[in-house]
Amino acid sequence: MADTDPFRSKRLLYRLAEPDDDAFFRTLKSERPASKQDAELFHKAVENALLGVEDHVHHRSTEIGIGIIKAWQGQGYGGEAIDWVLDWAFEKAGMHRVEVNVMEYNERAVHLYRSMGFIEEGSSRKAWWHAGRWWDEVRFAMLEEVWKKLRKIGH
Ligand SMILES: CC(C)(COP(=O)(O)OP(=O)(O)OC[C@H]1O[C@@H](n2cnc3c(N)ncnc32)[C@H](O)[C@@H]1OP(=O)(O)O)[C@@H](O)C(=O)NCCC(=O)NCCS
Repeated sequence: MADTDPFRSKRLLYRLAEPDDDAFFRTLKSERPASKQDAELFHKAVENALLGVEDHVHHRSTEIGIGIIKAWQGQGYGGEAIDWVLDWAFEKAGMHRVEVNVMEYNERAVHLYRSMGFIEEGSSRKAWWHAGRWWDEVRFAMLEEVWKKLRKIGH
C-alpha cells in the first residue's frame, strides 16, 4: 500500500523543530560559525516555519532555504527534500512561485537547483564577500506551471 503520510517522502520525515533538536541545531551552526544570537534567531525561525510563507501571501509566492549537516550531504537528501517542499507548496499551500537564493560559489546548490528545473532569474551583483573576493547572489525560482510540466500534471 502506498504511504499516504503527507509529511513523509521516500526517506525523510518533515516536522516542526522540537526542544530535543538543540544538539542538531548546534551541529548545523558549528559548521557555519555564527554568534549565539544568530543561532538563536535561526532556531526561532525554523521553529516558526515548516514551509514559511512570509509577506508574499497575496502573490502566492514564497522563498525557501535548506541546510543539511555535512555528514548527510551528497546523498540525494537535498533533492528529495526540495521535491517534497515543491509538491507541498503547489499542491497543498496554493503557492504559485517558490524562490531560492544562493551564493554563486555554492556550486553544489546551484547545480542542484538547475538540475531540478529551477530557472535562474537574476543576481545581486557582488553581494557577498567570501574567500577574499566578491560573489553574486543568484536568484532561482520554480513556477507552478513549470512544476506541473515536470511532474506531468494535466498532460
Ligand atoms: C546544497 C545542499 C542543500 C544540497 O543537498 P545534498 O543532499 O547535499 O545534494 P544532493 O545529494 O541532492 O546532490 C545535489 C547534486 O549536486 C551535485 N553536486 C555535488 N557536489 C557538487 C559540486 N561541487 N558542484 C556541482 N555539483 C555538485 C550532485 O552530484 C548532485 O547532482 P546529481 O543529482 O546530478 O548527481 C546541501 O549540500 C547543503 O545543505 N549544503 C550546505 C548548506 C547550503 O549550501 N544550503 C543551500 C543554501 S542556498
